[in-house]
Formats: sequence, C-alpha cells, structure tokens
Amino acid sequence: MITDEEIYANEKKIVRLLRSTERESIEHVIGDMRLNGYFTSPASTRYHMSCTGGLAKHSLNVYETLDMLNKYSGSPIPDDSVKLIALLHDYDKQFVYQEKRLKNGELAKTPFEKKDSLPLGHGEKSVILLQKLIELTPLEQMCIRWHMGNYDKSFREKENIIKTNYPEVMLVYFADHISSLMLE
Ligand SMILES: [Fe+2]
Repeated sequence: MITDEEIYANEKKIVRLLRSTERESIEHVIGDMRLNGYFTSPASTRYHMSCTGGLAKHSLNVYETLDMLNKYSGSPIPDDSVKLIALLHDYDKQFVYQEKRLKNGELAKTPFEKKDSLPLGHGEKSVILLQKLIELTPLEQMCIRWHMGNYDKSFREKENIIKTNYPEVMLVYFADHISSLMLE
C-alpha cells in the first residue's frame, strides 16, 4: 500500500528527474503520463508493486538501482539516459491495468487485472509509444526493448549481438530484477 502523500511525492520526484534531462519534448512525455495514469498505475497484477502508485515506485527503485550499478560499472550509460531508461522502461504498463471490482462494486482481492487491447510486446510497445513523443537514442531503445532479458522468449535468438553491441542492456535487466525481487 502506497499512501496518497507518497504517490504525490513520487510524481514530483519523477517529473523533476525527467525535466533534468533537458531533453526536447520531455513535457510531452510528462503530459502523457499524467493523462494516462502512470503515477497511479500498479506495476503488476500480483507479482510486485500490485497497488495504486506501484509503477511509479517501481520505476524509482529501478532508477536508484540502475544509477548505482551504472556508476559501479564505470558509467557506460549517460546520466540523462539512465533517468529516461529507468523511469520509462515499463511505459506501456500505464495502459494495460484496470481496477477489478466485484458485482457489489467492492474492489476484488487482487484489485487489478490486465487488459491489453494492443499487444505489441512489453519492451517493443514502450519504445513505440515513447518514440511518438520523444526521440530516444539507439542505446535507450535497446535498453527499454530488451530489459526483460531471458524472460523475453526472443532474447535468446539475439543474445550474442545484444550483449556484444549493447552490454548496458544487462545493467537495466539486473536493476529491474533487483528492484522487483528484492526491494519490493
Ligand atoms: Fe520493470
């Protein structure tokens, strides 16, 4: 459970971090997030941060973890890209979870369900949606697209080329999984 105060504080923190990238069109992304419910969306239906505001909290955890892993690894990812990748890696999730209510109007035990009317793939869909609003660098595209690593069935086919050309992808994978498995 995340309190309303924490949801508000997380929104302020994420907006400040995104603005600090000084990336052209970042206001379009922030506007889209506010319009579509990014700051109140859960991060999953039952696995991690399956509560109102869970997506924003998870994204901040990934940001803090990725920032630390990136610095430990000699900072191969530029600072502004760390912010964009971590805070936006699950961008599509704000569109796919809906509140699940019982017939009497009360919230169900697992209060969210997944309804994806445009199943383009998790990483792919986030990149596609973001590219309509902001220009991502190839490194940012790769890190968001492949952040699920082996959990994405098509990762194995391209594993060698991804790890050779964009080893930074694995930092995002580790940051995401350290956050969801150990911090949440
Ligand atoms: Fe994630």
